[in-house]
Amino acid sequence: MSETPHRVRRSQAWFGRQDRDGFIYRSWLKNRGIPHDQFDGRPVIGICNTYSELTPCNSHFRTLAEQVKIGVWEAGGFPLEFPVMSLGETLLRPTAMLFRNLASMDVEESIRGNPLDGIVLLMGCDKTTPALLMGASSCDLPAIGVSGGPMLNGKFRGADTGSGTGVWQMSEEVRAGRMAQEDFFEAESCMHRSHGHCMTMGTASTMASMVEALGMSLPGNAAIPAVDGRRNVLARASGRRIVEMVNEDMVMSKILTRAAFENAIRTNAAIGGSTNAVIHLLAIAGRIGIDLSLADWDTLGRDLPCLVNLQPSGKYLMEDFYYAGGLPAVIRELDSVIDRNALTANGKSLWDNCKDAPNWNRDVIHSFAEPFKADAGIAVLRGNLCPDGAVIKPSAATPALLQHTGRAVVFENSEHMHQRLDDENLDVDEHCVLVLKNCGPKGYPGMAEAGNMPLPPKVLRKGITDMVRVSDARMSGTAYGTVILHVAPEAAAGGPLALVRDGDMVELDVAGRRLHLHVSEQELARRRADWIAPEAPAPRGWVKLYFDHVQQANLGADLDFLVGKSGAAVPKDNH
Ligand code: FES
Repeated sequence: MSETPHRVRRSQAWFGRQDRDGFIYRSWLKNRGIPHDQFDGRPVIGICNTYSELTPCNSHFRTLAEQVKIGVWEAGGFPLEFPVMSLGETLLRPTAMLFRNLASMDVEESIRGNPLDGIVLLMGCDKTTPALLMGASSCDLPAIGVSGGPMLNGKFRGADTGSGTGVWQMSEEVRAGRMAQEDFFEAESCMHRSHGHCMTMGTASTMASMVEALGMSLPGNAAIPAVDGRRNVLARASGRRIVEMVNEDMVMSKILTRAAFENAIRTNAAIGGSTNAVIHLLAIAGRIGIDLSLADWDTLGRDLPCLVNLQPSGKYLMEDFYYAGGLPAVIRELDSVIDRNALTANGKSLWDNCKDAPNWNRDVIHSFAEPFKADAGIAVLRGNLCPDGAVIKPSAATPALLQHTGRAVVFENSEHMHQRLDDENLDVDEHCVLVLKNCGPKGYPGMAEAGNMPLPPKVLRKGITDMVRVSDARMSGTAYGTVILHVAPEAAAGGPLALVRDGDMVELDVAGRRLHLHVSEQELARRRADWIAPEAPAPRGWVKLYFDHVQQANLGADLDFLVGKSGAAVPKDNH
């Protein structure tokens, strides 16, 4: 262990004092039997826990935290666990994304205000990962990520069924009259049968992969199933390692470099990762001070293939991915495109961690030479319908629809969509383009995962499974389809999306990176004159603060005043 000489630990500003304040800092902690020698200057490690029974994907985090603590003690540190706001994707209304930035503020202030030298971030369900990385980045202490791990594969009637992806498929089957309601209910118990987060390559698995690709975790973090004993080993090893990281002064900004983000973007293409990673990585980069833009996603990932045959882009699930070799096996395949020298949490380079990684199943993890799908990076579109950009995940889309012009069928908001979509008199066919407005950061508010809107029943009955859909919303990482998302500026911010009307022709050209509304400038100007900006959806509280300050999707949807970092210093104390 290489220790930085003469470094006074941050926690000693609390525990090292010999006066009245030192008494206060130590004495209350001793109420549960902490011996005096724990305050002797050893690294104090905060375990930032997003455990909550309201976040089912993180409901095993007490066990995980205990493993981290054992590791910290084994390495000579002093662990202190603390809770932060937990964001569960399935229960929290109106959408967990509305609270990502709020949770990040909780994380940031909880770290900064307490006597901590290093942090272990326990993350699982979708938004818990970016929220913790964002908040911790703004303090920039040594930190290591431990993801909760994916659930075991869902099993329904002898076949695998994947979180989210299976729900979208089966609900369309029910709507088309091809699946009985009782079977649909039965599937509920079969899909999610163990601790962990969604086991498709949805947002949670994507973000756990991003944590590993960024270098913010030990190797293996992305894929070890939540209930596999090796997940506990990883947690324990991370507890040991964070103590060393404090001694080495390995703050987050030493790991989260421009090269790390570039590696993560390339890895996201190779795993067929969620479009949500675009927004989250932009926001994390904004906090740590790395100049990353939406255009980087296209430039860096544009020609990269998808190597991983996982739902929603492919067939398998995260358990299969782990047994096939997990993320290290993918990164090994990326040797010609990644920055091999990027530093990771264990003190080694990304390449050193992955260069000998085995691949046990080529049908799950393909080679770079013979990929699962070609050109799988996130495509960033521009055009008069999205002057500040929009994204599409070509690997989850229908190839024949990637170049398409169709008549717009417009929904003013999600309520309007639900009201209209099942109407048998709706003038729509499979060649139309479904356009959904007012589901962006301000419009929903919180940027709902509503972009993969259901298809109209009369289209479904023809056996059609995909249509071009355009919105300022996000899409669940478990969803699929020819879905254009994150249109910026959003409708509620006065973007051109607000001006689209039924019958307008919309042109999508993914190869040309173009999304165009075939309406003249003069007509758009006329429509704009009639547009009325929406008011904040609430007069007070978080929603008002969020509405007034949230940035657009192309900037990561962080609050404008949260961008950047303030370090970990706290000059005052009220004792
Ligand atoms: Fe929590 Fe999918 S609902 S990760």
